[in-house]
Amino acid sequence: MEHIFTLLHVVMAIINFSRTNGTFCSMQGELVYPQLSKEGDITIGAIFPFHSIWEITDLSYSVRPPPVKCMSLDFRAFQFSQTLIYAIEEINNSSSLLPGVSLGYKIYDTCSSTAMGVRAVMALVNGNENLDLNEPCTKPTEVQAMIGETYSAVSMAIANSIGPLSVPIISHYSTCECLSDKRKYPSFLRTIPSDYFQSRALAEMVKHFGWTWVGAIRRDDDYGNSGMAAFTEAASELGICLEYSLPFFRTYSQEKVLRIIQQIKSSTSRVIIGFLDTWDLEMLVHVFFEHNITGYQWVGTEAWIFDPELAKLDRFNILQGAIGMAISETTVTGLQDFILDVQPLKSAGNAAFTEFWEAMFQCTFTIENDYRNTTICTGKEKLSEVENTFTDMSLMPIFSNVYKGVYAVAHALHHLLGCTKTCPTKKQPDPFTFLEHLKRVHFKTKEGEEVYFDANGDPAAKYEIINWQTTKEHQYEFIAVGLYDSSFPPNDRLAVNLNSIVWAQNSNQMPRSVCSESCPSGTRKAVQKGKPICCFDCIPCAEGEISNTTDSIECEQCNQDYWSNTRRDECVKKEIEFLSYEETMGILLTVVSIIGALTTIIIAIIFFKYKDTPIVKANNSELSFLLLFSLTLCFLCSLTFIGQPSEWSCVLRHTMFGIIFVLCISCVLGKTIVVLMAFRATLPGSNAMKWFGPPQQRLSVLSLTLIQVLICVIWLATSPPFPFKNLKRYKEKIILECHLGSNVGFWAVLGYIGLLALFCFILAFLARKLPDNFNEAKFITFSMLIFCAVWITFIPAYVSSPGKFTVAVEIFAILASSFGLLFCIFLPKCYIIILKPEKNTKKQMMGKVAVK
Ligand SMILES: *[C@@H]1O[C@H](CO)[C@@H](O)[C@H](O)[C@H]1NC(C)=O
Ligand SMILES: *[C@@H]1O[C@H](CO)[C@@H](O)[C@H](O)[C@H]1NC(C)=O
Ligand SMILES: *[C@@H]1O[C@H](CO)[C@@H](O)[C@H](O)[C@H]1NC(C)=O
Ligand SMILES: *[C@@H]1O[C@H](CO)[C@@H](O)[C@H](O)[C@H]1NC(C)=O
Ligand SMILES: *[C@@H]1O[C@H](CO)[C@@H](O)[C@H](O)[C@H]1NC(C)=O
Repeated sequence: MEHIFTLLHVVMAIINFSRTNGTFCSMQGELVYPQLSKEGDITIGAIFPFHSIWEITDLSYSVRPPPVKCMSLDFRAFQFSQTLIYAIEEINNSSSLLPGVSLGYKIYDTCSSTAMGVRAVMALVNGNENLDLNEPCTKPTEVQAMIGETYSAVSMAIANSIGPLSVPIISHYSTCECLSDKRKYPSFLRTIPSDYFQSRALAEMVKHFGWTWVGAIRRDDDYGNSGMAAFTEAASELGICLEYSLPFFRTYSQEKVLRIIQQIKSSTSRVIIGFLDTWDLEMLVHVFFEHNITGYQWVGTEAWIFDPELAKLDRFNILQGAIGMAISETTVTGLQDFILDVQPLKSAGNAAFTEFWEAMFQCTFTIENDYRNTTICTGKEKLSEVENTFTDMSLMPIFSNVYKGVYAVAHALHHLLGCTKTCPTKKQPDPFTFLEHLKRVHFKTKEGEEVYFDANGDPAAKYEIINWQTTKEHQYEFIAVGLYDSSFPPNDRLAVNLNSIVWAQNSNQMPRSVCSESCPSGTRKAVQKGKPICCFDCIPCAEGEISNTTDSIECEQCNQDYWSNTRRDECVKKEIEFLSYEETMGILLTVVSIIGALTTIIIAIIFFKYKDTPIVKANNSELSFLLLFSLTLCFLCSLTFIGQPSEWSCVLRHTMFGIIFVLCISCVLGKTIVVLMAFRATLPGSNAMKWFGPPQQRLSVLSLTLIQVLICVIWLATSPPFPFKNLKRYKEKIILECHLGSNVGFWAVLGYIGLLALFCFILAFLARKLPDNFNEAKFITFSMLIFCAVWITFIPAYVSSPGKFTVAVEIFAILASSFGLLFCIFLPKCYIIILKPEKNTKKQMMGKVAVK
């Protein structure tokens, strides 16, 4: 505690407070006098903090509070008063605004104390004695309206107490958002934007700089707490997280301050939002330096960001690069000269003026022995020779707010009194009517600035973004680096020139303050358990999902025809798979099937050439040729399985295959039956051949095939096969295949073939031992065995092989069974025809039989 007070002594030293103790505004005195006043037809009240007090906040109620002591004269209040006087004089002089009506003023001191403030307003309104709360006040008050107060806490107390009297109070500097609550403060208006806007603007700015992980120190009073609450709300909307929000007050014990320091030291965020005022920061700057806490990027509210006094005190560059919102630069022409001309002050209040003069020039008018060392005031001291708060014009925007407040009152009066060239009456309107009029004023100042109040009595918020930059002389300069205007649409409100900003530690690099670095595309955010939303891990998107922006919350599922790339930031078209003519397997199968077809044709040619030889004749040449023809088709029909499935190829594939195979098998079956019949025919008394002559053979082949055609027609008519994109089998590629349409159809076609093959096999098996020199039955049995083996192995392979291999397996089965038939049935005969022509005689054929 002690060292804090030592620090404050540095601050205090600027202002001479030893002599002002209790001079004007002691609470012990029963009467409260205005500091400055002038008579007029209509009086405007004003309350400014000419002094400050030490308010002891940690008091318990058991102790009687000590009397309020007003100390340390604040020259700012004199500047505000001068501004008010200037505005009133200007209106008094004007021939267009309130012509003929003279305005007076009464300016009171609040001592920055709520108690004193309430006393002051009571003195200002005490003309009104109507105590019935149900009746509006009809009797005019002492003053028409009030300008002030500076501090939000005092404004709240005042606005609360005079709210029921409907006396308007227009503040130039109280920014607390709480004052916008018109149920609590019905007669409170202001010309400074509410902290609500500032908090929002600050949050938007913080977001703009990408700082999502920030700390905050707030003044432990209404200003800090409600400003912080508004900031927190806006921040959470914008996705900014607060690592900490610490209350601070300049009367805090050392312990409490140390705890704050510890918390800041252990934090990871690099940005501190300061909802503080100049006094708090002056202390904090020293404490920060003592604990070596530097390099934080400060973000400030208008309460301190534009304060040259604070800037002078920050010798340790704790606040270097601070950035924040300040009321945008406005001037009132002629005001500066007026303020520096102290004559109006002198004429408005002698006692106040004396105190002012003494404090200003550190001299005294009263000669006392105690003060031998102090100079005696001559009254001729030159203002141009001193430099202090009074000569500093950096609060011009706030002066402008006072000026606008006075003008708002004047415009409302002008309207209400029905003034044109002259004012018909100078009678004060009743407060309620006046307040209603005041809320609706809309005018332009001589600088062209529009003044109006919104439904909450607040003006439109316009801020300048101020950056503390160090000059060569190691002093701070306030550089405007951007603007914020709440009357613009949300996205255009903030305009910042990033290049002109100098950040903390005199860096050109914008500091980063995030809990977790942003997630690159291809990943998504996953909030860490128990942490704020700004702390997250980046989790790569799953297969088939992408995120193409940084910091995405969800991975997006790719469209069904698309799949994620390896970086998971783009959906790429899935690879399409089918057995094509271009790939090796497709080419191989094509070649094999064409070779098969050619072989069949060559055999057919050989057979045709030797059609008159016994071996061809004996073997029922008609069925042989039909078989060869159908085998050619078998080989060729495998080609319909290769290439991109189309509507036609899908339909053709299975039906062609089914019909041709049935044709094939029925030929073989015919041959088997012929062998059986031929044997019977050799037996005496049989004329079996008559029963199965060529016409019957043709008929049976035709009818067996027709059954398959019928099956196919039914299949196609009910649910035909169609090309189909199989997305399920593989996630990352599409298989183009022929959907069977109806499984029953497919298996019926295959089953019929199987049935015929089985029947054929059984018959051939029965006939295999029959004596014949060239008994085909052996070969047919063998070929049917191959055929059945191939197709039986086909089924599991077909069901289990993935993608295009299903098709390949099917082709393979077709080719294998076709070759099986071709080679088993025709190769032995070709061998005899070409290589052993001596055996190809009728005698040989018959001989065998004879031997048997
Ligand atoms: C207003 O003007 C009148 C005369 O025009 C003067 O008597 C009065 O003092 C002026 N009031 C102020 C506050 O300057
Ligand atoms: C008002 O008029 C008086 C006399 O004409 C002049 O001295 C004074 O400077 C004027 N005040 C303002 C604020 O214009
Ligand atoms: C403060 O910190 C700086 C760098 O971080 C270091 O060089 C310096 O010694 C520290 N001073 C004290 C008093 O801890
Ligand atoms: C007056 O000033 C002198 C030197 O300037 C100093 O030594 C002396 O103590 C001062 N006296 C008082 C009463 O402050
Ligand atoms: C991200 O993907 C969506 C759709 O997936 C697309 O509309 C958008 O343009 C993409 N954005 C970028 C930056 O690629």
